[in-house]
Amino acid sequence: MVCTDNDPQRIAALKAGVVPIFEAHLETLLNSNRRPRKLTFTSNAGEAVRAGDVIFICVGTPPLENGEADLSAIDNVARLIASEAGGSKLVVEKSTVPAKTGQQLKRVLDIYRRDGGIQFRVASNPEFLREGTAVQDFLHPDRIVLGVEDDTSEQQLREVYRPILEGRFRCPIHLGNCRAKQPSELLITTMNSAEIIKHASNSFLALKISYANMIADLCEKVGADIQEVTRAMGLDPRIGPQFLHAGLGFGGFCLPKDVQAFIRLAERSGVDFNLLKEAERINKRRIDVFLEKIRRALWVINGKCVGILGLAFKANTDDIRFAPSLEIIRSLLAEGARVRAYDQEAMDKIAALYPQIECTREPYDVVRDADALLILTEWEAFRHLDWERVHGLMSRPLVIDGRNLLDPTTMREKGFEYYGFGRPIENMDLRLTLSNAPKFSPTGASA
Ligand code: UGA
Repeated sequence: MVCTDNDPQRIAALKAGVVPIFEAHLETLLNSNRRPRKLTFTSNAGEAVRAGDVIFICVGTPPLENGEADLSAIDNVARLIASEAGGSKLVVEKSTVPAKTGQQLKRVLDIYRRDGGIQFRVASNPEFLREGTAVQDFLHPDRIVLGVEDDTSEQQLREVYRPILEGRFRCPIHLGNCRAKQPSELLITTMNSAEIIKHASNSFLALKISYANMIADLCEKVGADIQEVTRAMGLDPRIGPQFLHAGLGFGGFCLPKDVQAFIRLAERSGVDFNLLKEAERINKRRIDVFLEKIRRALWVINGKCVGILGLAFKANTDDIRFAPSLEIIRSLLAEGARVRAYDQEAMDKIAALYPQIECTREPYDVVRDADALLILTEWEAFRHLDWERVHGLMSRPLVIDGRNLLDPTTMREKGFEYYGFGRPIENMDLRLTLSNAPKFSPTGASA
């Protein structure tokens, strides 16, 4: 396999066996295939195009101002493939794209081909990898979707995936807790369906999270516990336990942008997807709900020292794109807080964006003399901190947990004032204040 990218530094790192992002097991997998030269890297895109019979397009499709997916990188790569290909190719969309992009891709390839004898076939093969478990998801997928328009393309792609489907891929890594027990499903669909499957899947996950978050708000008002509620709901196989975890809402580079792109696609197609618009609105409000908890607990934020554990948009990644931490830090600074932060992987990225915050090299330094501690990412290591020590270090032992990572009863037994999302609030006065309080306004006036 030959890989290319327009970032020469990335290619240089990969050639040297270094993965430029934090992703568990990826470097091991890279190096086990790099040395026998099964996997090579080049900055010469033409060389990569000419080397393959099947070409996967994996470029970014970031959101435009209006929420639609920006397809200019797909268009650029399509023209490049068309002009560089010396023979017929199967061109496969791996990037997340709106329905009907495959048809446009085929048009561009045909228009820009340098020789009328060259045939391009096009297929869609959406990826369902999650950051943090990408290697495991790739080697043991729940499903492989092949959106194809002809038998030759289907056969070529079946061949590409044969080692994974037959469980013959020799994995150099021991993947604990992997999904290998169930065989992967192979689905052959049309290209349009394959494209829709990706957006529909991510949007459904987003809906589930927003639904759980609304239940959490309700639990908080009536004194119920969201963890008990979603655990019971999830035991119904028709609902399932995953993506019911309430908290700061969905971030990252996939769910927020895919929900937006799906809404815009529906609008363009004359379908008003209000349901998704509401899920997006609920998600945007999660940060306000969290900031309101901080304001209620701290009263005045100006001059307070706030410690933050976790900056990445979720655990096991260094990715901060659309991470709740970005907006929370911005608001805290605007309201005059002193902010300290720690994350085992994402710290350098935040430090570059917010030079005014103090990034610490270990979690205990974050809480020293702090008036509040916020948990913004569900890193497992935070659960196992020495919480007695944390208590002793803080000016005021107040923990506001944006991920429901910790157990409220245990935290309160250890002497903390603790607030999560949708967990029973011990302090009845605060609960009443939270339900009846006028909305905060940055100008100081009550809304
Ligand atoms: C998501 C999808 O889960 C993948 O299947 C898909 O391939 C990928 O997008 C993509 O389109 O490339 P990912 O962005 O890595 O994967 O992250 P998720 O694990 O889906 O989490 C997204 C956000 O939802 C995170 O901020 C996470 O904290 C939040 N989340 C997740 C919740 O708030 N509650 C939950 O119960 C689950």
